[in-house]
Amino acid sequence: MFRELAWLFHMTIDSIVEGDLTFAQKSSQKALPASVEALFPDAERRRLLGSLSTYCSDTELYNIARELSEGSLELTVQAGIVRTESAACQEGRAHQESGICQEGRPRTGERKVSIPASLLGENTLRETAPYFAKALGEMMGNTEPGLRRIEELMRCPECGEKLSLGNKDENKISIVCKNNHSYDVTDGVVYFGSREIPGELWSLYMRNYQDYLREQRHPGNPRYQMGAVPCSEVRWQTLKKLRPRVILDMACGTCNGLKYDLQRINWPCLVIMADLSHRILKYNKRYFSEEMVNPYVDIVCLACDCAHLPIRDGCIDMVVSNGGFESMQSKMMDGFREGYRVLRPGGHAVYNISIVGDHTSENTKKWEYLYGTLDESYSLHEKLYDIEEWEQVCRSTGYAATETKEIYGELPAPEGDVFPFENEILQWMGEYLCVSEK
Ligand SMILES: C[S@@+](CC[C@H](N)C(=O)[O-])C[C@H]1O[C@@H](n2cnc3c(N)ncnc32)[C@H](O)[C@@H]1O
Ligand SMILES: [Zn+2]
Repeated sequence: MFRELAWLFHMTIDSIVEGDLTFAQKSSQKALPASVEALFPDAERRRLLGSLSTYCSDTELYNIARELSEGSLELTVQAGIVRTESAACQEGRAHQESGICQEGRPRTGERKVSIPASLLGENTLRETAPYFAKALGEMMGNTEPGLRRIEELMRCPECGEKLSLGNKDENKISIVCKNNHSYDVTDGVVYFGSREIPGELWSLYMRNYQDYLREQRHPGNPRYQMGAVPCSEVRWQTLKKLRPRVILDMACGTCNGLKYDLQRINWPCLVIMADLSHRILKYNKRYFSEEMVNPYVDIVCLACDCAHLPIRDGCIDMVVSNGGFESMQSKMMDGFREGYRVLRPGGHAVYNISIVGDHTSENTKKWEYLYGTLDESYSLHEKLYDIEEWEQVCRSTGYAATETKEIYGELPAPEGDVFPFENEILQWMGEYLCVSEK
């Protein structure tokens, strides 16, 4: 029935289920510009271009139309069939060299079928259009679409002036301000000269892309999956409701938090990943474009200090942090205030935060004592907050309102005098997901 409704009302199934009429209006066909219309006498190709019109500017559409009509561009849908040996793989999914399937089984046969896009029906066109539009944008534009979109949101971290895309010579893109401060885009990452925290050298821990993939595929500490509804799902429900167009992930690391959402976002969206480590971002860029493509999402990576973002005041719809603020260690509160600064009025910060149960309880007192026995090398947080104290922090930062939801509570404190964890030293604390509105 949904398929029938989608057909009748020119809507996507998602927008019917979510009751999002604005999206339906936007996604219903906009008329083709006359210049494009004139190029095609045939209804098939007009329909194909019509499906792209929501995602492309008129100029982009015209350029695509021209190349199509000249015969220098061909759009097809590739269907693939892979046959593998049936025995289940013992090893897991680590190996991925060619000739081996994702689960590690050898391929015994492979066929590809190519279908001209002009033969596709209207519903299929609507579903494939964002994939085509994204790839076409990358092929035909000179710069990545993400960089073009972020251009107007950036400011120079040295002088505060506007930043814009500079000349692109010898395949080198840089971003410059009018005082000639210039930042290179290296391996797809805008590099603001940031260095990792001494003693926390992620780049040593992840020396190559294989190391990165191992980390990315590791299931992680089960403690962080606790709660009747895990944090990632609560965060996703919030994102889905607010449909932000521009998201900034603070101290994103390998993007373990936002990864869940990046697989689900189904509206056009720019995601800015910000971290000190150029190397992690370079690998994120590769991973999210090779293994986790979402045609609705453009990704831009900024290697910068999140306590001093190269982003203008009030232009971001949503700031997210998955343990990001806390990872900034002594700069945690600077990062939190910086997140507020870049949010637009009415925008939201969506983040998880470690919280103690109750400073006056025996359990919390015992944990605080044990935590206090750790030495400086652990870069301890000066203050551990309970949820009311944290709400107060949000108010004094300037947030108009903060919704908090407990994901799981503090662990029972151990007997004896020894702090039980060697790393992830906040894992005894409870976790809340907060949504703070500016
Ligand atoms: C464990 S990750 C945080 C988890 C991550 N948000 C996720 O969802 O997977 C820690 C990251 O914080 C980054 N970081 C620490 N201080 C920072 C700062 N001042 N600005 C930007 N990134 C920072 C580190 O480079 C590291 O990549
Ligand atoms: Zn400058």
